[in-house]
Amino acid sequence: MTKRIGILTAGGDCPGINAAIRGVGKTAIIKYGMEVLGFSSGFLGLINKDYEVLTEPKLSNILTLGGTILGTSRVKPFKKDELSFNAIDKPKLIKKHYEELGLDCVVCIGGNGTQKNAMKLSDYGLNVIGVPKTIDNDVWGTDVTFGFDSALNIATDAIDRLHSTANSHSRIMVIEIMGHHAGWLALYSGMAGGGDVILIPELDYDIDYIVDYLEERARRKKTYSIVVVAEGIKHSSKNKSAAQFVASQIQKRTNLETRETILGYIQRGGSPSPADRILATRYGAYAAELISKEQYGLMVKKEGDVISSIPLNEVGGKLRKVPQDHPIIKKALGLGICLGTPSNNGL
Ligand code: F6P
Repeated sequence: MTKRIGILTAGGDCPGINAAIRGVGKTAIIKYGMEVLGFSSGFLGLINKDYEVLTEPKLSNILTLGGTILGTSRVKPFKKDELSFNAIDKPKLIKKHYEELGLDCVVCIGGNGTQKNAMKLSDYGLNVIGVPKTIDNDVWGTDVTFGFDSALNIATDAIDRLHSTANSHSRIMVIEIMGHHAGWLALYSGMAGGGDVILIPELDYDIDYIVDYLEERARRKKTYSIVVVAEGIKHSSKNKSAAQFVASQIQKRTNLETRETILGYIQRGGSPSPADRILATRYGAYAAELISKEQYGLMVKKEGDVISSIPLNEVGGKLRKVPQDHPIIKKALGLGICLGTPSNNGL
């Protein structure tokens, strides 16, 4: 019997999603003779039975394309919301459409929220495979998500560019990097871009300690400094972003001219890096292989250089945060980078 599979992409978009769609779809069609349906706008496409048949020609010329050809949304199948208030039982409708279409499996490409909903749909009786994607790199169970490397290149390039303007004006430049719950992108781009201060949600910080550090640099004739902050760091302002808060605190406490840059959605745009194209393709192809073996309820993962899988019920609802003793944090300390407090700096 020819298998028929669905693919959906949910949550924040990122470079590499189309490479993953292509990896699943072309492997399913060419290697396993399957039929492939692409559902629009994440889980909403399953709720509305809104899909297109993905043929080989439809999967051509998308490897290098940013975003997702299927569109995405943050609609949550199990969350009571406006859709439910119209007496729509979303999970029931999803299962009805899944059965009416004769699907053998749905591949859910997404981050934490998507994998959690994929786990719930699996528990609800659907055959599901998760593929981990996000620029935040905070999906539990895998070493890395695709999207992260592309965003790391973008964020690092932006930080590189800030050095010249900060140097010209002898300024403190504060740049905000995406990463709502975990500081992977800020930590890695801060290290790659030569940040002097790196603040991540996982580590506390003390503005006075940061100010002392920056003033000491100025005293040592370091004419400018780069401060890299993750958008998810805690701060007391209700109407300022993380970078605006940190920049305003530095400006208020010193006579060091300070400016902020919020990199935002630039980090989610454009063509995937070669590394992400390869990773997304490997994840997608492996998802198709699992389906061919009728192994479901799993998320594909990378450990070292090996692609394998982990049960979704070991992933759902968890977050992969930066461990406080991560080797890169230790290296940062050794380089004299300020991580926010004396204790973080091993003092
Ligand atoms: O999860 C990826 C991410 O870009 C986060 O870094 C960011 O906080 C969030 O998505 C933004 O969400 P949205 O695209 O819904 O505004």
